[in-house]
Amino acid sequence: MKYELKPLPYAYDALSPVISKEIVQLHYDKHHMAYVNGANAALELLEKGRKGDLVNVKAIMRDLSFNVNGHVMHELFWENMRAVKESNAPSDSLKKKIESSFGSYDAFKNEFSEAAKTVEGSGWAILYSDNNGNLLIGQLEKHNLLGLNTYNVLLAIDVWEHAYYLDYKNDRGAYVENWWQLVNWDVVEKRLAL
Ligand SMILES: [Fe+2]
Repeated sequence: MKYELKPLPYAYDALSPVISKEIVQLHYDKHHMAYVNGANAALELLEKGRKGDLVNVKAIMRDLSFNVNGHVMHELFWENMRAVKESNAPSDSLKKKIESSFGSYDAFKNEFSEAAKTVEGSGWAILYSDNNGNLLIGQLEKHNLLGLNTYNVLLAIDVWEHAYYLDYKNDRGAYVENWWQLVNWDVVEKRLAL
């Protein structure tokens, strides 16, 4: 088994001006690719171990968790964005679901933005549904820490510096606020139905 980098669902410059072509190119070609390569390298080491080589299983598992989650989170991230859309909003039915979980759409948006802005160091903010279909917001540090193993990720924002630094310098808040214009709510709705 091998992990692969799927093609981006749009051109490198599709997310501009919220996220520049330069960032998307580096982020996808270099950073995302590195997680795919890291995951495959860890799998190869496990394979060697099964054939009798002496390997550090604990260290490999740690690498595998970091890189596989890095890979999967980036796939989710690319797919839950699209080109800037004026008045970008979820459908009425998704909005109702959000309102019933968070009280109001604004409360949801504030909580998600706050989660994104306050991740310690590098990580993610995610909207997810649990096994009972409840919507919740969470943070991931790195790609894999603080996660709950029952979640189905509906929406993810990457708040590693590599996701915004070239455009926004250290202003993660401005990146997060602008990012809402890119959310592909159709994809969020599809994920919720799965
Ligand atoms: Fe990233």
